[in-house]
Amino acid sequence: MSARIVAVVNQKGGAGKTTLAMLLAGSLADRGRKVWVADADPQNTALHWAGMGAGFPAHVEDVSGEAGKLHKALRKRAGEYDYIVIDSPPAAAAPVTESALRAAHLALVPVIPSPLDLWASVRIREAIVQARGRNPELDARLVVNQMQPNTVLAREVLAMLPEFGIPLLAASLKSRTAYRQCAALGASIQALGSRAALASMEVDALRREVEGLLRGRR
Ligand SMILES: Nc1ncnc2c1ncn2[C@@H]1O[C@H](COP(=O)(O)OP(=O)(O)OP(=O)(O)O)[C@@H](O)[C@H]1O
Ligand SMILES: [Mg+2]
Repeated sequence: MSARIVAVVNQKGGAGKTTLAMLLAGSLADRGRKVWVADADPQNTALHWAGMGAGFPAHVEDVSGEAGKLHKALRKRAGEYDYIVIDSPPAAAAPVTESALRAAHLALVPVIPSPLDLWASVRIREAIVQARGRNPELDARLVVNQMQPNTVLAREVLAMLPEFGIPLLAASLKSRTAYRQCAALGASIQALGSRAALASMEVDALRREVEGLLRGRR
């Protein structure tokens, strides 16, 4: 058994990389999977989240110091986990991001449906295309974050996404206080219980789709 590796990446700061990485990792771990969140961002936001006290169900560890050697560090320990989820810094060309994309089976790119965010995300597509030189099996999906359904802007931006060149995950995340609460408490979404039922369903759908994409990948 060797872990399937998901790299959550975007050049754009604040797009929701850490939120997506931690919600996905927490959901996988709550389903009994052995999960490692490799925190490759020197800001260590994922580590802070896990340290808030609620008993985050996945193992979270700072790997930002591995820089361009991250792929080797991950491969060495891939046998210990079912999934490794990498949270990366907002820097497409950083050695640690390149190394994460070299190790990953799947890159997830969270994007906020705003033109400014899409323009700022173009460099990550180039980084993914480049990573495929050494990692031809690398799959990638855009994940709409902070989705505001039924707004004209959201519809216009969603219509732009096919031009981006990375397919869209069907599941998306709405803007919800429950996700901020998870970070404040150090919890997974399941730990919030029935007060976060809709958020929990949203994260479940995302986890299932990601598991489906990774099934059979080694
Ligand atoms: N779906 C959401 N609903 C509500 N708040 C959200 C959502 N996604 C992200 N946020 C909030 O937006 C802010 C930025 O999110 P986050 O830290 O996950 O982005 P990031 O891409 O990891 O940022 P950075 O580039 O600094 O690492 C945080 O305050 C987070 O709580
Ligand atoms: Mg972050």
